[in-house]
Amino acid sequence: MMNLSDSTPTTCNAAAGYLAQLISATNKRFLLRLEAGGELHTHRGILKHDDLVGLPWGSRVYSHLGSPFTLLQPSLLDVLQEMKRNTQIMYAKDIGFVMMMMDIHPGKHVIEAGSGSGALTTALAFMVGEKGHVTSYEVRAEMQKLAAKNIARMGMSERVTFKLGDIENGFEERGVDALFLDVPNPYDYIAQVRAALKPGGFFGCILPTTNQVQLLLMALHREKFAFVEVCEVMLRYYKANPQRLRPTDRMVAHTGFLIFARPVTAEAFEEEKAEKEPAAPAEAAEEGDVKE
Ligand SMILES: C[S@@+](CC[C@H](N)C(=O)[O-])C[C@H]1O[C@@H](n2cnc3c(N)ncnc32)[C@H](O)[C@@H]1O
Repeated sequence: MMNLSDSTPTTCNAAAGYLAQLISATNKRFLLRLEAGGELHTHRGILKHDDLVGLPWGSRVYSHLGSPFTLLQPSLLDVLQEMKRNTQIMYAKDIGFVMMMMDIHPGKHVIEAGSGSGALTTALAFMVGEKGHVTSYEVRAEMQKLAAKNIARMGMSERVTFKLGDIENGFEERGVDALFLDVPNPYDYIAQVRAALKPGGFFGCILPTTNQVQLLLMALHREKFAFVEVCEVMLRYYKANPQRLRPTDRMVAHTGFLIFARPVTAEAFEEEKAEKEPAAPAEAAEEGDVKE
């Protein structure tokens, strides 16, 4: 099977073997892989794959009941949104920023835990490409089964090694480029993270509450991680109406806090800490940091 990156090539027309997306008049989205003789059954009628193959992307097509659909080439975001899930999955806005902050690109070896439904796994596998690799740890077998199925559906199984186990027992890999945790208590595993990451590698984590972030910050300090960043990504959509351009009525106000840090040598840690120590009150007042 063609993998996800090969499945959305730079062609202008739909072709057999490629992923395609059909969007109904009510914005219901269907993701399919075009196959000779295949059919998509929807509550608004049936569409034959053979009728779609060869059409330019962006075409209007009709089911056997006459319902209209638009044929589009799906993106990684479309794939993530359509994914079968058993767990909370990471939002695309967070995944996108994680890729940038952790320098995830072709050829990198990345560890993640837990696999969950495999949304982040899919994005990581897509980004590291054929020459990179993702190792995904998960403690619950049924979760990992679903994540592995989602990855296989996208033809990327060769890029991912799934390992069943509790990360409390540590990671088997050493010298990896980046490691991301999406587990409730990452602060319990920072020593294990340090052992697996290469010096100066990229650590990242997502947590829903500030209480958990506080525990994580203390653990990162204990394990001498430097350049610690805590942030969240807020995304607000607008109604794309040129006459009445305004934000949509609802937004997802909070998904999680993102925390990033780098393991450095003890010496570098102490020096970075000293540089960041709060300035003496007189000096700080001059800089406007302290209220008199
Ligand atoms: C929120 S889900 C991860 C979702 C995933 N990032 C995604 O985007 O689909 C958290 C997963 O971590 C797993 N988990 C929790 N503690 C773990 C541990 N100590 N070791 C390995 N996996 C763990 C849970 O079983 C669960 O499947």
